[in-house]
Amino acid sequence: VIDIKVDSILKLMTLDEKIGQMNQYNGFWEITGPVPKEGQAAKKYEDLKKGLVGSMLNVKGAKEVYALQKIAVEETRLGIPLLFGFDVIHGYKTISPIPLAEAASWDLKAIKESAEIAAEEASAVGINWTFAPMVDISRDARWGRVMEGAGEDPFLGSRIAEARIKGFQGDDLSSKKTVLACAKHFAGYGFAESGRDYNTVDISEHTLQNIILPPFKASVDAGVRTFMNSFNDLNGVPATGNKMLQREILKGDWQFNGFVVSDWGSINEMIAHGFAKDSKNAAEIAINAGSDMDMESYAYIENLKELVEDGKVKEADIEDATRRILRTKYELGLFDNPYKYCDEVYEKETVGKKEFHEGVLDMAKKSIVLLKNENNLLPLVKSGKKIALIGALANDKTSPLGSWRIGADDESAVSVLEGMKAYEGNQLTYSKGADVTTGRTQFMWETKINTTDKSEFSKAVEVARKADVVIMVLGEHGLQTGEGRSRTELGLPGVQQELLEAVFKVNKNIVLVLNNGRPLAIPWAKENIPAIVEAWHLGTQSGNAIAQVLYGDYNPSGKLPMTFPRNVGQVPIYYNYKNTGRPIMNEPESVFWSHYIDEKNTPLFAFGHGLSYSKFEYSKLSLNKENFNATENIEVSITLKNNSNVKGKEVVQLYIRDLIASYTRPVKELKAFELVELNPQESKVITFKVDEKMLEFYTANHKWEAESGEFKVFVGGSSDVTMEGSFEFIKK
Ligand code: IFM
Repeated sequence: VIDIKVDSILKLMTLDEKIGQMNQYNGFWEITGPVPKEGQAAKKYEDLKKGLVGSMLNVKGAKEVYALQKIAVEETRLGIPLLFGFDVIHGYKTISPIPLAEAASWDLKAIKESAEIAAEEASAVGINWTFAPMVDISRDARWGRVMEGAGEDPFLGSRIAEARIKGFQGDDLSSKKTVLACAKHFAGYGFAESGRDYNTVDISEHTLQNIILPPFKASVDAGVRTFMNSFNDLNGVPATGNKMLQREILKGDWQFNGFVVSDWGSINEMIAHGFAKDSKNAAEIAINAGSDMDMESYAYIENLKELVEDGKVKEADIEDATRRILRTKYELGLFDNPYKYCDEVYEKETVGKKEFHEGVLDMAKKSIVLLKNENNLLPLVKSGKKIALIGALANDKTSPLGSWRIGADDESAVSVLEGMKAYEGNQLTYSKGADVTTGRTQFMWETKINTTDKSEFSKAVEVARKADVVIMVLGEHGLQTGEGRSRTELGLPGVQQELLEAVFKVNKNIVLVLNNGRPLAIPWAKENIPAIVEAWHLGTQSGNAIAQVLYGDYNPSGKLPMTFPRNVGQVPIYYNYKNTGRPIMNEPESVFWSHYIDEKNTPLFAFGHGLSYSKFEYSKLSLNKENFNATENIEVSITLKNNSNVKGKEVVQLYIRDLIASYTRPVKELKAFELVELNPQESKVITFKVDEKMLEFYTANHKWEAESGEFKVFVGGSSDVTMEGSFEFIKK
């Protein structure tokens, strides 16, 4: 039915109007990229009135959206409503944890619910399209945008992509509470050379197919309605102008019938890449490659008509792009009610609802990873103790919101200091110790981060000296991660490492609470500090979540979605690496094996690592048979016991290794996981079914398939598991 409606409107449209649908302008206030042309407001209004705009981004508020939608609907010839896109990356105003933190929960239900909250709140302020989820896999913690993804693993990344898309889009896009999702950035953006944002990507077909594309394919299968391409050049062809990616794989092989939006200005950026000679040429390349909508390049609106007249672009391709865009507008119900997201009363009742705060608090607690807990320093006892709380980040109400928080007010997060104060039984003394920022920090525009001022060290040391336990909140400010925020160092920024060591000299009972948007290399802390809690940037309810975990009112169950290196020189470091021809077992005593002379090969904290206040024990790995074929499966079972007096949750992880294959295969790959809750002293048998699908990869035949042969299977609570079994797969 929708296609019939779309066709009937397409018949009425002029070429200009079709091209107009492919044009997206930034709004008039917020920006999320370099402004291509100053003083364009008048032109934007004019184009809007002429029906030459299909979508706006960065417009927020029911009133503002209504005003622009009214122009599109009531003043243009055909009255086609606009799409309003916005970076609702982890919440609109009620901010949930950064996506990397949410991924650490491995809790797909919670992640879906978190996206539902974001969609409900964002749609109440007029937004009907979020530029999320970012499904880029990355192995490079230097890249600032790892905070926006689900980490390094294609299997976990795919499951999380599905959960987030289902959360944003729901089952019914025409509902008032759902928004279009956008799988981005297609493709390869997370593999930017040397972790520097926007940099060149040069990777094999093998890596593209096996590591990068799976979460995008999973997004299509989950019904995502839009894709965003990426800024990077992929093996010599900028992604925006990449026909193989967009026309052959996405719209061809995967049969995606939604639309592709360019990234901000990425069509014109092909000029700087040296791939297009001018904006007109860039527009030609982008549309011919399958980019349907132009975000802020002005390239389509200014050139497409002429390109059709010159015979360089087929009108059928313009029509196809327009059809895809109109289809989503129908699916959202915008043709029936273009103002469905523009109700100011509903907006007031909805934004910042109590239920949203409860939801993001729950997600924040689930995202925390207990990295180390020697001598059961945690959880803290609730009364009679002197607690020192140290670190500027402990008293920061903006940093936990991260850098993608265009809809949230500065200073709107609960700080750790506030969260800890709610527990009144202990004597709490706060000392900053060292600044992390100076001046005002605002979305996208930080003033100065990383100060070198040590003048407050001595005060912090004195506070620590008198305390029973010291909580140090250290790490990265929320604006030190995100787009355009790559780093060459992965330690604690500024003088925080020195502060940590100075405090350690007077009091060893330290709980280090990390705030960060990427894996950090903190080997000294791992060696010396008895308890380390990974608390990321947890959003609006950050301080409450952290305090509840520190005091044991919530038992942490998070697991790392990305490997933590010992040293930045190990990057890229990831658990699903391949064996070399000279692995450790051959020459452990000599120089002739693949290693560094100044650092171990192993990570600081492995992918999948995370502790609990419960003590989980794994035993009895067994397989129900020795081999299976394409019509069968094999069952792998283990026994999990909670050998403690605390109820807790554990993420049981299953990894597989394909021993001999037509392409070399990783030493292990995550293929299944289950979040299991056990009462004190409870044991449970957990069984996974392994089938042919789980053995598939992109083979030397250039297709996804399983190959016959021997496999190893590992089950445990992290990627460095040792409990293993083996089986044979016989392909018939
Ligand atoms: O969605 C973002 C994208 O991830 C990076 N460039 C700008 C877009 C819109 O704000």
